[in-house]
Amino acid sequence: MERYIIEGGRPLEGSVRIQGSKNTVLPVMAAALLQRGTVCLRRCPKIADVRCMVEILKSVGAGIRWRGDCLLMDCRHVHTGEIPGAYADKMRSSIFFLGSLLPRCGRIAVSYPGGCTIGKRPVDLHLAVLKAMGARIWEDSRGFCALADQLHGCRYRFPKISVGATENAVMAAATARGESFFSNCAREPEIVHLCRFLKLAGADIRGEGTTEIRVRGVRKLHPAEFTVPADRIVAGTYLFIGAAVRGKISLEDAPAGELEAVLDVYQKMGGQYEVKSGTLVTDSSRIGTPVPYVETAAYPGFPTDLQSPLAAVCATLAGKSRIREKIFEDRFRAAVEMQKMGAAIRRDGNVLEISGGRLRGAGVCAWDLRGGAALVAAGLAAEGRTEILHPEYIDRGYEQLEKNITLLGGKISRICGSINA
Ligand code: UD1
Repeated sequence: MERYIIEGGRPLEGSVRIQGSKNTVLPVMAAALLQRGTVCLRRCPKIADVRCMVEILKSVGAGIRWRGDCLLMDCRHVHTGEIPGAYADKMRSSIFFLGSLLPRCGRIAVSYPGGCTIGKRPVDLHLAVLKAMGARIWEDSRGFCALADQLHGCRYRFPKISVGATENAVMAAATARGESFFSNCAREPEIVHLCRFLKLAGADIRGEGTTEIRVRGVRKLHPAEFTVPADRIVAGTYLFIGAAVRGKISLEDAPAGELEAVLDVYQKMGGQYEVKSGTLVTDSSRIGTPVPYVETAAYPGFPTDLQSPLAAVCATLAGKSRIREKIFEDRFRAAVEMQKMGAAIRRDGNVLEISGGRLRGAGVCAWDLRGGAALVAAGLAAEGRTEILHPEYIDRGYEQLEKNITLLGGKISRICGSINA
């Protein structure tokens, strides 16, 4: 079984270049199917979720090539809307094919999307907005099928804010007949980036980044080139890794403007930062103040994806911190694992109460992508050796994590073999 071995307690210092954004590139890869030429995605992160999307794209007939960090997607010969279960089961983002492959092929069959175990993660909003655009959708035991000769524009108010459902709606509306008006939309930067890609390909979209998005359907989209923006969650993860070990880390290309809520918490803990020609220069040497209360929320609030990494930092701070998770109901497994490292964490409903102190190395298990990254942060801060099982969860979203941590002066390695070896 693979695992990370971390020898903790070393100071980290240096620079990390922030990779392209996972949550931008995944919907953009699906959206590429709306056009019939070749899309070029520069600075595409080489992470497991991208590789899984690549397999899905190949299985429906797209030609995929890498040229350096540029992913070339030739979508001329896409011929089927059937997505093999083996891939869809692995990732939540297979749901994005609803908004792109359905308009492209007129039908789609996909099994229920898999992904990280952080809660129920239903897809009802995705289905509802597509139905409002004229899709006929039915479910069976394996997943769902959808049919639509031509989607039409609609007015739809999301009953709950959803990043993915907003993205699916915008994709589907881009080539639908007529105009669509969506309200109570999510405002995450990744939606703005997806819309920028769609506009480069000829879509007519207004209002992205606000709660109201208007899309005027165009007959067809054309090929486009797009540079994937930096990943705010990866930047936030390295920020909190630095905070956990009281290091000094410069985050090259970090999207500081998308990290306001995160930097606010960082500063309140005693972290210092400045932005110098596109680099977020951070200094965590004075971190020491616990976080009295923070809750996760839709953007521009504190991101749920950084809840576990923040909990790892709080576990190193003397005094009481409280974090309320308001987006996903079961995103606490990393906290349970951190208890094995001596973290004084108590869960009360959707609130984590953390009375920090010293962490010590232990054998722990990653259960989801960001929780896994949080355990890396905790392991680096802990005294002694930490073993993290299932690093493949972390591979889903982090490019060259071991290499980056090693360059910063941390001691981390990845090994295969029996747990008692
Ligand atoms: C996206 C991000 C993920 C992040 C999350 C919240 C991607 C690929 N993933 O996930 O990293 O943690 O936003 O910022 O961009 N919900 C429903 N019905 C639905 C859809 C969602 O009830 O049809 C609920 C979810 O269970 C959750 C909440 O809405 O409680 C928000 O989920 P959503 O914004 O859709 O998250 P994702 O798009 O899956």
